[in-house]
Amino acid sequence: MEYCRDMQESTMGRSPDDDYEIRLCGDADIPSIIRVNTLTLPEHYSDDFYYQILRAYPETFFLAERDGAAVGYIMCRTEHGLSLLRRFGLAKKCHIISVAVLEEYRGKGIGTHLIQRALERVRSESAKECYLEVRITNLQAIELYKRLGFRVVSTLSGYYKDGESAYTMVMPL
Ligand SMILES: CC(C)(COP(=O)(O)OP(=O)(O)OC[C@H]1O[C@@H](n2cnc3c(N)ncnc32)[C@H](O)[C@@H]1OP(=O)(O)O)[C@@H](O)C(=O)NCCC(=O)NCCS
Repeated sequence: MEYCRDMQESTMGRSPDDDYEIRLCGDADIPSIIRVNTLTLPEHYSDDFYYQILRAYPETFFLAERDGAAVGYIMCRTEHGLSLLRRFGLAKKCHIISVAVLEEYRGKGIGTHLIQRALERVRSESAKECYLEVRITNLQAIELYKRLGFRVVSTLSGYYKDGESAYTMVMPL
């Protein structure tokens, strides 16, 4: 399976107490990724969607693992279209579709680490921007994204099914 070729490439957490590993996701990991998503976010996707994203964008689908179990993930899509940073410009963009860490493992740098791994990859693929949508009340995530270099560029009114609005946040790569 081509998209598993980098499965050995991994990163350990920043101290023995934060003993997690970040590695590329494979087909067999999808059920545990779905579990993390179900436990952490109100936005769920069909099972098929995860496999499609993995097949299409394997290099930016990472999971964080601790004691052999997934505790976090990030999945992204590469897009070509209007730049969110330069008026009327076109850009190759990385769209962070979803990132999440199980509640009991938060605050250990895992979310930061997952995003950094995806950014490293898309930079090497010459993407020029990375963007995402985030609930306007999700202050912890918004702060994290700002710290990483994202800024709010627009508000999407009523973006989520429950009517909450989203910010679009973008960073140059
Ligand atoms: C957003 C999210 C992925 C961040 O993951 P994380 O592993 O906690 O991220 P980090 O540890 O790298 O950074 C979290 C920040 O909150 C702080 N924090 C401290 N205690 C924390 C705790 N108990 N829980 C969460 N964050 C905590 C961290 O210190 C860190 O800030 P700092 O680097 O300035 O110290 C995670 O909160 C999450 O899964 N949330 C629910 C799903 C979600 O909202 N996803 C984003 C959708 S757009």
